[in-house]
Amino acid sequence: MDKTELYRQIETQARALASGERNAIANAANFAALLWEMLPDINWAGFYFRKGRWLVLGPFMGKPACTRLQVGLGVCGSAVAQEKTILVPDVHKFPGHVACDARSNAELVVPLVRFDTIIGVLDLDSPLISRFDEQDARGVETLAKFWVNASDEVG
Ligand code: SME
Repeated sequence: MDKTELYRQIETQARALASGERNAIANAANFAALLWEMLPDINWAGFYFRKGRWLVLGPFMGKPACTRLQVGLGVCGSAVAQEKTILVPDVHKFPGHVACDARSNAELVVPLVRFDTIIGVLDLDSPLISRFDEQDARGVETLAKFWVNASDEVG
């Protein structure tokens, strides 16, 4: 299946999963599971939610991960500080990368934006170098926006 079709299917399934449910954690849990099921070659998919200068672990699929990341540090913290999606072809070349799972080689982090404020990130890891491209970035950004709009504020 090509990526356009893949992300179209992911979005369709996300809409179905979130229809009638506004709980942010429930929707995040299902979205992490959906990405885990649908995307090939990933070893971690999940959410971190912002609490002041920290990003605190939310629902995810994959190995147990760091519970708290600092805004400004690592890939996730940099995506928040720089207010943008970060695509990392090789995490070993990213200064300050936080290695939660030693198998991760590539990473894609998309900010979750509600009313112009970054409330967290959606993070994907892959064991394959250069696994994620612009199409993945746009596809995951669409899903991140949909999660924000489909869910009430994280408590
Ligand atoms: N690698 C991330 C930490 C989170 S884990 O990948 C799940 C980072 O550098 O921020």
